[in-house]
Amino acid sequence: MGRASLALLLSLVCLVLMLASDGVAHRQKMRMERRPQVAECQLDRLESLKPAYRIESEGGLTESWNHSDKILRCAGVTLVRRTVQPKGLVLPSYTNAPQLLYYVRGSGIQGMTIFPSCPESFEEPEESERQEHREQHQKVHEIGEGDIIAIPAGIGYWFYNNGKTPLVVVILIDTSNADNQLDGKPRRFYLAGNPEDEHGQATDGERSGGRNLFSRIHEDLLSEIFGVRIETVTKMKGADDPRKNIVLVKEGLEVVRPDPGPRANGIEETICTLRVREHVGSAARADIYTPHAGRIATLNSIKLPILADLHLSAERGVLYKNGVYTPHWNLNANSIVYVTGGIGRIQVVNNEGKSVFDGEMEEGEVLVIPQNFVAVMQATGEEGFEWIAFKTAENAMINTLVGISSAIGALPVDVVAQIFRVSKEEAYKLKIGRDQTSLFSVTSPSSSK
Ligand SMILES: *[C@@H]1O[C@H](CO)[C@@H](O)[C@H](O)[C@H]1NC(C)=O
Repeated sequence: MGRASLALLLSLVCLVLMLASDGVAHRQKMRMERRPQVAECQLDRLESLKPAYRIESEGGLTESWNHSDKILRCAGVTLVRRTVQPKGLVLPSYTNAPQLLYYVRGSGIQGMTIFPSCPESFEEPEESERQEHREQHQKVHEIGEGDIIAIPAGIGYWFYNNGKTPLVVVILIDTSNADNQLDGKPRRFYLAGNPEDEHGQATDGERSGGRNLFSRIHEDLLSEIFGVRIETVTKMKGADDPRKNIVLVKEGLEVVRPDPGPRANGIEETICTLRVREHVGSAARADIYTPHAGRIATLNSIKLPILADLHLSAERGVLYKNGVYTPHWNLNANSIVYVTGGIGRIQVVNNEGKSVFDGEMEEGEVLVIPQNFVAVMQATGEEGFEWIAFKTAENAMINTLVGISSAIGALPVDVVAQIFRVSKEEAYKLKIGRDQTSLFSVTSPSSSK
């Protein structure tokens, strides 16, 4: 009898194990499926990409790149750019994948809708209902040129231009991130208004009747849940709202700064105060600085820990006139370069030693530099060349080809002499290269052709 029940027990254990490993296999399969298909990264030619869609709203412009483009699918990302007029308010929304925002110019404020368990989700006691309203909301950040904000999947945010000039932000959406459990399409969920789908997926049949999260929930139920009149619910549904994705606050927005008050609990410390913003714009933040050539500032999970969860990092580059960013490759990430100013020439070489891109780029254009492809960047305009590169790893690293601690520098001099068929003396010069590591300045940009 003991034997029989032992056998039964064993077979039960086996069954449970099988089921569990089935679950794991299924999850792994889902992850695999989100990786780009092999053919999508068979890139013989890269292109500088411009936005494919545009939506003009009352308070500004939304432009987005074509997420179906082969190059963007290879990198598993897409991009959106918003140009918000003064007093423009971008409706709160969240996406199915983590986002990195880079504020190119202008200034404003940005708020998150909900971080789970943060203070204002506490219920107020019933009795306080008729007392005067005590306004509470999530942390609001001042934002400006050169700021990066990291947003996890499913976390809503809004922002508002409180300056006098347009506020320009470029947003990377990492659709192939493990946090996206849906397919590779970017999906933005708006909490209000009647916004248009900025990724070109609008279904025309659904046009009338509002397109936010509340639009299709039954009115009576909403009115019941919020304890408000039907007219208010009708407004929430946004059916007749012509303002679209960005609205104008004619009288200006009044926002109360969060009250640091005595309500802190343990959760608040660790989640609600999680840093999501970092400034990378100014020269003082540079990690590499070479006078006359330029500067590079990197932002990774060591400087901004939330990036460890999002598996993203960034690099802010500025080349002065005649500056060159030496040939280098990204070890562990794709790099999505958005040009923020000036004019520069970028050359990219693939694993077959083939030039897959050699062109001039200017503000507003995007170039995907795939993992391990070698890139060299050069300022060709009078005003230099600058960019923000979003990278698909939390601690993206580069390896350079020239100078101290470069790939060539690391080789024994005789190896260099043998592989390039040069004298030891020449090999030594190749090894040492320039004394700067990644940035240097050339006397005439055209002579380097
Ligand atoms: C987006 O890219 C896909 C695939 O290359 C293409 O078929 C489609 O026409 C593009 N859409 C737009 C609006 O450019």
